[in-house]
Amino acid sequence: MDIGIAGHGFVGTALHRLLERNPDNVVAVYDKYLSEHAAASDLERLNRCDVVFVAVPTPYDGARDACDLTAVREIVERVNVPICIKSTVPPGTVDALVAETGKTIAFSPEYVGERPGHPWPDADSAGFVICGGDAHACAAVREAYRGVSSPPLRFVETSAVAAELVKYMENAFLATKVTFANQFYDLARAANVDFAELRSLFLLDRRVGDSHTDVYAERGFGGRCLPKDLHVIAAWARERTDAGLLDAVLAYNERLRARTASSQAEGVQRVSVSADRVAARTAASENGSAVRSNRIQPPD
Ligand SMILES: NC(=O)c1ccc[n+]([C@@H]2O[C@H](COP(=O)([O-])OP(=O)(O)OC[C@H]3O[C@@H](n4cnc5c(N)ncnc54)[C@H](O)[C@@H]3O)[C@@H](O)[C@H]2O)c1
Repeated sequence: MDIGIAGHGFVGTALHRLLERNPDNVVAVYDKYLSEHAAASDLERLNRCDVVFVAVPTPYDGARDACDLTAVREIVERVNVPICIKSTVPPGTVDALVAETGKTIAFSPEYVGERPGHPWPDADSAGFVICGGDAHACAAVREAYRGVSSPPLRFVETSAVAAELVKYMENAFLATKVTFANQFYDLARAANVDFAELRSLFLLDRRVGDSHTDVYAERGFGGRCLPKDLHVIAAWARERTDAGLLDAVLAYNERLRARTASSQAEGVQRVSVSADRVAARTAASENGSAVRSNRIQPPD
């Protein structure tokens, strides 16, 4: 299959590495700002592909309190074959682009992680691909992902707007989890409780899930995706319904980030402890040891 990728940054290269695992896939790249992929012929080549994935930036524009879709629009204008947008875009973007251009467009949220040690370092780590929008474009996306992973990736089709919204739901949830853990870090300090121990007790309940529950010297959430995506979805929500929780998370995170410097001065480091230590403590408590056994509750 002939596959195009527009935007060869973090997501574009991760997708390229993945799709090339199937020797039947031939990947062509266009990137406006990378000299080796910026030629007019690179752009023209996209229009001879079976599907073009779009992985260009979609930054938060603070002045407009909205997502900047300039780069996505630029690619959609120039590509006339089926398109799959991997860039994170606000709900309704694909439907609006289809109405404006009449082009064949799908959206597929991307889950690859950038941070060192991220549990999902590859474009297939999630184990599933969500694709929403035009059925022909979704079929091309399904074909592009065929044979790149073992076991095969679970392919889930939905509407474009559901696929767009679930990406924000995921990032807003993870951002909320970070602020929640940070809130309880401060409560632990107020109660003179070791947060490492508190977190370990909390995680005995497997329903919680340990990701995004660490507290670091750099308080709250940062990076290239969570803040921008939370700003975008909060603005989108504010225009349509109640954005109370999202706004509270954003405001609280700003206060946390402002405190980062003072936290660093106090020498706060990553405060989780290993599962082994928790298990040892739990075992000790179950054996009637004096290790705060009265404070460990069995999971519901
Ligand atoms: N980085 C992540 O971990 C991650 C994860 C999931 C989703 N996303 C989303 O994927 C999108 C891309 O993110 P990224 O981290 O790969 O960004 P990036 O900045 O690493 O890469 C974007 C690439 O697009 C190129 N580009 C910019 N404008 C262009 C244009 N008009 N035409 C062609 N190429 C252009 C840039 O030169 C760059 O190489 C964003 O919407 C982001 O929110 C990122």
